[in-house]
Amino acid sequence: MRRISVTVNGVRHEADVEPRALLVYFLREQLGLTGTNVGCDTSSCGACTVLLNGQSIKACTALAVQADGQDVTTIEGLATNGTLHPMQQAFHDEHGLQCGFCTPGMIMASVGYLSEHSDPDEAEVREALEGNLCRCTGYHNIVRAVLEGAKAMRDSETVVGGGNGAADGSGVAMGRVREGVVVP
Ligand code: FES
Ligand code: FES
Repeated sequence: MRRISVTVNGVRHEADVEPRALLVYFLREQLGLTGTNVGCDTSSCGACTVLLNGQSIKACTALAVQADGQDVTTIEGLATNGTLHPMQQAFHDEHGLQCGFCTPGMIMASVGYLSEHSDPDEAEVREALEGNLCRCTGYHNIVRAVLEGAKAMRDSETVVGGGNGAADGSGVAMGRVREGVVVP
């Protein structure tokens, strides 16, 4: 077992984890944050997307120990004081979901992407979400929701998931979805 200290949604957690434990299972099973879903478990679907230091990653491809000392934001960390994050609100308003299984990952991927590309066009949104699969919606409403959420975020200057990974020291780390690096 390895002792790790991870700040998740602004709360610091210390825990003992197996060195091979994946971040997504640490979040779901040890911290009880089940909003982060597991779909494929093989880095294909994006259902497990979270922010690591503000950058979206697929939590099924990162080890929990890799989050040691880092800042993680999950879907549970977006709303503040009962008020939905603008991107959550946009998914609601634009009916950007059906069964909802892919939705936390879609939202976290979108928020991560928008931290670097605040004013994307439709094609850019579609490309940014190519690593997130939805079996229900046909994507049109999801894309509409992301564009609407992006506008709302610009209007409200929303910042989420700032961590210690920001290259510019602003506390806002950047990036589109990437796979975590699993070290042997
Ligand atoms: S569970 Fe499908 S990418 Fe992680
Ligand atoms: S809403 Fe069902 S998988 Fe996307």
